Amino acid sequence: MIVGHAVRRGSVQAHMMIRMRRLLALLVLVIAVGVTAVVLAVQQGGAVHPVSGRVIAGVMGHQGAPWLDRGEREQEERPSLAIRELQLRPGMVVADFGAGSGYYTERLAREVGSSGKVLAVDLQPEMLALVGARARTLGLANVELVRSTQDDPRLPTGGVDLILMVDVYHELAEPQRVLRRMKAALSPRGRIAILEFRKEDPRVPIRAEHKMSVQQAVQEFDAEGYLLDRRVDSLPWQHLLLFRVR
Ligand SMILES: C[S@@+](CC[C@H](N)C(=O)[O-])C[C@H]1O[C@@H](n2cnc3c(N)ncnc32)[C@H](O)[C@@H]1O
Repeated sequence: MIVGHAVRRGSVQAHMMIRMRRLLALLVLVIAVGVTAVVLAVQQGGAVHPVSGRVIAGVMGHQGAPWLDRGEREQEERPSLAIRELQLRPGMVVADFGAGSGYYTERLAREVGSSGKVLAVDLQPEMLALVGARARTLGLANVELVRSTQDDPRLPTGGVDLILMVDVYHELAEPQRVLRRMKAALSPRGRIAILEFRKEDPRVPIRAEHKMSVQQAVQEFDAEGYLLDRRVDSLPWQHLLLFRVR
């Protein structure tokens, strides 16, 4: 009896040890997953630009596409005025870099006409699918879709007259590499235009890491060999800055 009891007690203890080990393993796994998630979140949005010290924002997910097409956008940002300031002409080749849902692509395609072309570039296939559907619905045959990577804009060499980034540059994970590669894509008189929410203006209701100052933009473009060619300050919330290769 005594022996039998001791054996049973031993087996209960062994069983408890196994359960304890399993619990410990589970705890370690939960902590590891939690730490990885935090590290990933920081890597995605928290890198710092080495020249300006600006905190690089995370990429806006395709789930946010309806915000890009909101009805109030014309009144809040005056995109029609921004397009006019780009001084586009029929026949031009324009890249809508970081095209999102294609809000600007549609407007650019109308400006450059059937003799011109708009390259709608984005990282996210879901965004490109939205642009493709929009172009088909509107019968815009001059829109071409391009899937980029974080460090390669995948633009054709030498023939792009304007690369437009609307609310995009501040979230490029590799801004230096992208700007260097864009040089090769520009035509001889080509320009890069960026539209960014004004960091200098606290009344602009956008999160801090999604805004940029003129000083930050000029400093970062200058470091990659670009000159500020023109600056437009008439938009309600954004700067429009046009750069050319120095
Ligand atoms: C805030 S949305 C702006 C979309 C559009 N320009 C507009 O104003 O309606 C930013 C877009 O840039 C894209 N993006 C971010 N980094 C990119 C990169 N390295 N190459 C191409 N697209 C990028 C995102 O996928 C997203 O669609």
